[in-house]
Amino acid sequence: MAKNLFLLPGDGIGPEAMGEVRKIIGYMNSAMKADFVLDEGLVGGCAYDAYGAAISEEDMAKAMKADAVLFGAVGGPKWDHVPYEVRPEAGLLRLRKDLELFANLRPAICYPALASASSLKPELVEGLDILIVRELTGGVYFGEPKEIIDLGNGQKRGIDTQVYDTYEIERIASVAFELARTRKNAVCSMEKRNVMKSGVLWNQVVTETHKRSYPDVKLEHMLADAGGMQLVRQPKQFDVIVTDNLFGDMLSDVAAMLTGSLGMLPSASLGAPDAKTGKRKALYEPVHGSAPDIAGKGIANPIAMIASFAMCLRYSFNMVKEADNLEKAIANVLDQGIRTGDIMAEGCQKVGTSEMGDAILKE
Ligand code: NAI
Ligand code: MG
Repeated sequence: MAKNLFLLPGDGIGPEAMGEVRKIIGYMNSAMKADFVLDEGLVGGCAYDAYGAAISEEDMAKAMKADAVLFGAVGGPKWDHVPYEVRPEAGLLRLRKDLELFANLRPAICYPALASASSLKPELVEGLDILIVRELTGGVYFGEPKEIIDLGNGQKRGIDTQVYDTYEIERIASVAFELARTRKNAVCSMEKRNVMKSGVLWNQVVTETHKRSYPDVKLEHMLADAGGMQLVRQPKQFDVIVTDNLFGDMLSDVAAMLTGSLGMLPSASLGAPDAKTGKRKALYEPVHGSAPDIAGKGIANPIAMIASFAMCLRYSFNMVKEADNLEKAIANVLDQGIRTGDIMAEGCQKVGTSEMGDAILKE
């Protein structure tokens, strides 16, 4: 069956990194009869230049229909002063909202060849493989009221509101438990029930969801601040971490530093399963931005984008073996000492974006 991919390369190094994924897809179609059907649109600054919007309605409709969206990166100094509603990031936020991508998956994998680039001792991170599942569409980033009010006495008050409903916690917990079953079968849920009512509810709902539907998975609860400490103290104790939007934002950035460069980090954002087909809407993107400082030079690291495509194979198409092979190819190339500038080390061979893509494809 045809697998419909909608590509949104975006700005800066986005298109350069996406070009290497295109090579891999082309190979899979010709040599492995993978039957990927590609379409491509504009998002971010390039969409603003073409249509005056961060993404066109036509491209939004295509993203809604596709089996999966591959997203590069958006933004750059050229668009720093465009109106707020059409700024490059608005394209990504619109996609997340309309596709209802409530589950953000950020793996923190430490390739053995890069263990010495971590902020921690190599033995603490070598072989690290954590998956952080962050709630992406609720919590304090979206809760109302959200405002700054003038108290009239020379004082102002800034208000954000942390809100979570049962269904929001249930669905993110389910994603975490399901993913754990394909890994080491362990989930650690993080909140702050000691000081937050939403944390008390989070803890209850995760516990009930576990008892009702996933009793075979090992479940542990941790206060989020202690979790942050454990993440840098003994990161290999974790398999899947599930947490809310705010804590997930911070903890996934902490986890990122365990693994080396920004150019290595993939991510996936998943929606709810379709009632009829069971298929989830999904968007895959590298964690890094458009890197204007190196854009157009052919030196960007394409691994984050390629690893995002590996996640797409795994989660949208259940092509587990192909995903494993692609990830293994990345590890092999790193073992051979082939490096882009951002992960360069002594005695290694420095290559550009395209050579890195070719080396991975060859593996
Ligand atoms: P950035 O991630 O683009 O770059 C930070 C630093 O890491 C730069 O020195 C860059 O050269 C380097 N870097 C990033 N990815 C790399 C790669 N694949 N290979 C080699 N080096 C890499 O973050 P920054 O500089 O804060 O933002 C630049 C632009 O990107 C801004 O307009 C920002 O708004 C946008 N941005 C977009 C995101 C997205 O599309 N999801 C996420 C983050 C930032
Ligand atoms: Mg962040």
